[in-house]
Amino acid sequence: MSNPILRAAHVSKHYTIGERRAVVLNDITLALEPGEFTVISGASGSGKTTLLTILSGLDKPSIGRVWLAGKDITDLDENGLAPLRNRLIGFVFQAFHLVPSLTSLENIMFPAELNRDPDAVEKASHLLQRVGLWERRHNRPEQLSGGEKQRVAICRALVNNPRLIFADEPTGNLDSENSREVVELLLELQQEFNTTLLLATHSRSIADRADRILTLHDGRLVDDGLPS
Ligand SMILES: Nc1ncnc2c1ncn2[C@@H]1O[C@H](COP(=O)(O)OP(=O)(O)O)[C@@H](O)[C@H]1O
Ligand SMILES: [Mg+2]
Repeated sequence: MSNPILRAAHVSKHYTIGERRAVVLNDITLALEPGEFTVISGASGSGKTTLLTILSGLDKPSIGRVWLAGKDITDLDENGLAPLRNRLIGFVFQAFHLVPSLTSLENIMFPAELNRDPDAVEKASHLLQRVGLWERRHNRPEQLSGGEKQRVAICRALVNNPRLIFADEPTGNLDSENSREVVELLLELQQEFNTTLLLATHSRSIADRADRILTLHDGRLVDDGLPS
């Protein structure tokens, strides 16, 4: 029996700009099984970020519904969504989005503290050690390389032990060596923490590692398959 961690039914998103209606997502239906590593591929502008944003409840679809861990989140307001998101989802972004005034350790602790987790320090410390950045614990983001920032961001995404990780072009700002390391780390941690990973990327070599590739073209899901 299939028991998807995430489900979307007939999701569309459009924006009205003056007289023009731009259709950014067009009738997307999908389900993700627990533990799967799924890549969303597609050209720039095909709707990858918009889809991630809607699936994670950061934005609403114009049409359609989204279920997260079996719960219909489509009509929830921010007060209902924020705690659910914080508990169930970890985010990794292309531009890292670390808090500049906080140290590595504090950035990682932040989502756990929002959850009033008494073990926030311990969990963040453990993760920093796990990714080999313990000696960087007191450094702020500006004192870290791109690859180091992304490793800290990955720790932050994992600190609440989420069921799902959403990664939007996580290697887009990294050179090839750091990209490889970050992808390896994401995949290792996905296994260790037994999370579902949904990752948007242009990169063919990352897509080749996926269990499944969803391809977007002009907001439509045009392919759902295995790496070739
Ligand atoms: N807030 C918005 N208003 C109008 N158009 C938008 C908005 N957000 C995204 N778009 C448009 O939606 C399309 C898909 O964008 P996006 O989801 O960022 O694609 P991708 O991540 O694949 O590059 C683009 O054409 C973009 O211009
Ligand atoms: Mg994008």
